Amino acid sequence: MRILITGADGQLGKSFLKNLKKSSIHVFSALNKREMDICNFENSFSVIKNFRPDIIINTAAYTQVDDAEDNEEKVFQINRDGVFNLSKICKEFDIPLIHFSTDYIFDGLKKDLYSEDDKPNPINKYGLSKLQGEEQIFKTIEKYLIIRISWVFSDFEGNFLSKILELSKLNTKIDVVSDQIGNPTSTDEVSKKIIEILPKINDNWGVYNLVQNPSVSWAEFAEKIINISFEKGFLKDKTIIKKVHSSQYKTKAKRPMNSRMSTIKICKTFNISIDSWESSLINIFSKNKNEI
Ligand SMILES: NC(=O)c1ccc[n+]([C@@H]2O[C@H](COP(=O)([O-])OP(=O)(O)OC[C@H]3O[C@@H](n4cnc5c(N)ncnc54)[C@H](OP(=O)(O)O)[C@@H]3O)[C@@H](O)[C@H]2O)c1
Repeated sequence: MRILITGADGQLGKSFLKNLKKSSIHVFSALNKREMDICNFENSFSVIKNFRPDIIINTAAYTQVDDAEDNEEKVFQINRDGVFNLSKICKEFDIPLIHFSTDYIFDGLKKDLYSEDDKPNPINKYGLSKLQGEEQIFKTIEKYLIIRISWVFSDFEGNFLSKILELSKLNTKIDVVSDQIGNPTSTDEVSKKIIEILPKINDNWGVYNLVQNPSVSWAEFAEKIINISFEKGFLKDKTIIKKVHSSQYKTKAKRPMNSRMSTIKICKTFNISIDSWESSLINIFSKNKNEI
């Protein structure tokens, strides 16, 4: 299969690159923003026309949730209009699109797990832009997988895991929110599962949740990061995680209190099983210390 990946410098893009390199059955081109800007229709059109992929995996996005509140024009340009560009090109060449969305399209008021059929109601600009990105796909093409992921972490920079490690080197105690719950999900596992699903798609297009279990609070996730990184020798001292309520930890963007998502649909449709986020964390800390 010929695969084109956008946003290749991001954490999910890098994980796809790493895991696709390991599989010899695919030919792929992983392009960063300079090589293919999804906001530039002509540029994207000519790149796709030249490479002629069998499928496009779009990991490009604006992902700074708090900054998005002050950068409305940019966030909608990338997460909505860029996705519309890709959808139009996919339609023109009849290429299926795999696109990633988020738990932040929901308001978090549901008491149970979110399924793919629940009604979105975003409470911040990032969430709204991602929902409108989904809508561009719905109205333009039929062959798509929209994969909703959440609380993304990786061994690359710029995520909750890297922030906790950074803070724990400077502080003996860190305040972490304990009343928002969700599913931490590693880009390594997401990319592996998508690669596994590729030959099984058939005509099972649609929206799917893909997250790791069990669901926890940010504070519980932080505690696990500290414990595992300490046990594996990445931290000299065990930093204390102080549980605080969202009301005590003000951020520019509101976050859903409940982000938990069900993975029954994706597991049943494609006959896959998803590893726990704890095993992904252990894998990250089982590497050489200089690699993180
Ligand atoms: N991170 C999370 O916690 C999270 C949670 C749920 C869902 N998701 C979704 O998962 C997907 C992957 O997220 P991620 O964490 O890997 O994001 P990321 O690390 O921020 O990577 C996104 C990449 O897209 C690039 N990009 C931005 N504008 C672009 C454009 N116009 N054309 C091409 N590339 C562009 C960015 O480049 P620059 O940095 O140079 O702008 C960056 O390299 C996204 O769809 C995101 O919305 C993420």
